[in-house]
Amino acid sequence: MNQDQAISWGDLWAAARRAAAEAYAPYSNLSVGAAGLTDNGRTVSGCNVENASYGLTLCAECGLVGDLHRTGGGRLVAVAVTDGDGNPLTPCGRCRQLLYEAGGASCLVNETHTVGDLLPGAFGPDDLP
Ligand code: THU
Repeated sequence: MNQDQAISWGDLWAAARRAAAEAYAPYSNLSVGAAGLTDNGRTVSGCNVENASYGLTLCAECGLVGDLHRTGGGRLVAVAVTDGDGNPLTPCGRCRQLLYEAGGASCLVNETHTVGDLLPGAFGPDDLP
């Protein structure tokens, strides 16, 4: 799989929804699932994991990036983020930065966006000495 090959968004949305079903979200009651396609054709995913100390909550995209590295690394080509009912959710600011690191500006988000659209002028690895 590379940037030019077809992306099965149906499969990606389904994987994101399955991930959302595993969310631990007793405080917000918002289950979130994220699924990503890698540049070598793997599907990786994550769900949100909340904490009684609210600020320690882990977003679904955070779990997804962990899964990316745990299963062999590579780059994200496309990502879908959804609630438990299948409604698309836009990534929060912190997660846009995580997706920028793992997929770069060209990574597609929820079919209609790229990471570059969502985080214009991003700070990234190229800005470090
Ligand atoms: N959440 C995510 O998992 N990803 C996002 O990009 C936005 C927010 C989660 C965090 C928290 O568990 C719940 O949604 C409500 O903010």
